[in-house]
Amino acid sequence: MKILFLDQSGKLGGAELCLVDIAKLYGKNALVGLFADGDFRKLLETNHIPVKVFKNPGINVNKDSNLFTALASLGTVVNLIQQIVNLAQDYDMIYANTQKALVVGAIASLLTHKPLVYHLHDILSLDHFSKTNLQVAITLINKFASLVIANSQASKNAFIAAGGKANIEVVYNGFNVNNYQVSENNITELKQQLQLTNKFIIGHFSRLSPWKGQHILIDALVKCPENVIVILVGDALFGEDEYVNQLHQKVATLGIESRVKFLGFRNDIPQLMTMCDLVVHTSTAPEPFGRVIVEGMLCGKPVIAAKAGGAIELVEDGINGFLVTPNNPQELAQTINYCLQETEIVKNIAKNAQINASQRFDVNVINQQIQAIIKSPTSAAF
Ligand code: UDP
Ligand code: GLC
Repeated sequence: MKILFLDQSGKLGGAELCLVDIAKLYGKNALVGLFADGDFRKLLETNHIPVKVFKNPGINVNKDSNLFTALASLGTVVNLIQQIVNLAQDYDMIYANTQKALVVGAIASLLTHKPLVYHLHDILSLDHFSKTNLQVAITLINKFASLVIANSQASKNAFIAAGGKANIEVVYNGFNVNNYQVSENNITELKQQLQLTNKFIIGHFSRLSPWKGQHILIDALVKCPENVIVILVGDALFGEDEYVNQLHQKVATLGIESRVKFLGFRNDIPQLMTMCDLVVHTSTAPEPFGRVIVEGMLCGKPVIAAKAGGAIELVEDGINGFLVTPNNPQELAQTINYCLQETEIVKNIAKNAQINASQRFDVNVINQQIQAIIKSPTSAAF
């Protein structure tokens, strides 16, 4: 089967990293069409996945857009749609991986009669989207998608609650488990490079964005002993520079510059996670899935996650990690301090999580699920 994958981003977010593993399955029968150039294109090329960056003047719809801006931007996408319609003739299916790709993919599906699959990586609720945006997404999915792949039960539930009626299956993200086995030598060197020897290292791995809640971890850190430090790994991917400034200011105001390191976007996540004593996830709005939670587990690290959305499906409190109330630095600090004290119990929990996650999220198992469900959908619109 030949699949035309569509993604609006040139940057490497979780949805894009997930798509790499899926598109790879189809080799030369896949083409990933991107609406912007960037590191995502390079990663696809490194993985020998055919990729095409469409030339387009930009689509100015974001998660908070109103109907007027959404309609106004439609004019700018005509050329993009034309290019995609031409290309889609040679493919059996259009697979949209992001919301703007859904809009364009739905129109292309209508014009070409090719079935549309939508990979839902979001929780479609007002926590994350404007009302108009939600309505547009749900309407397009219901009308045009033959199949929706939800990245968690939480994403599926939110879809149904928002009026979603299309055929929907939950498939978690898959991970190449071997990539998360890191040798101790690498770690010692990395710690030296970053001048972090003899510290208790908490890692936060996320793009810098208000809803990812890096500020919550900083507030919790001041309630922890001096030898506890935080590395913030990730960058502002979607123009959240104001939030980045606020984080730096907060750290300066609290006088903890030596305890918070901003490492920016990194490509050595397994190494950095393995270097950590604890991996913390602090999203203040429900996390649709949360790749970083699984990655922390695969590295054999104890994980504390914010109790909402997909995180609840990944973590069983006290069994394979810890869940804390979102937006609550006090509770987070208590759980961090528990991990500092109860080292043996916590080590066992992390070991449990590693074994369990290696089976549950093995990319080979997940890929079989994906292949089985997208075998032969027919176009929903006809
Ligand atoms: N990530 C990365 N480099 C960074 C920060 C994050 O490669 O500097 C990766 C991280 O390992 C994870 C993904 O980006 O695989 C983020 O996915 P997640 O589902 O946690 O959140 P998203 O940003 O997609 O909402
Ligand atoms: C999105 C979600 C994230 C999820 C990822 C992969 O980026 O925000 O929670 O893990 O997609 O499905």
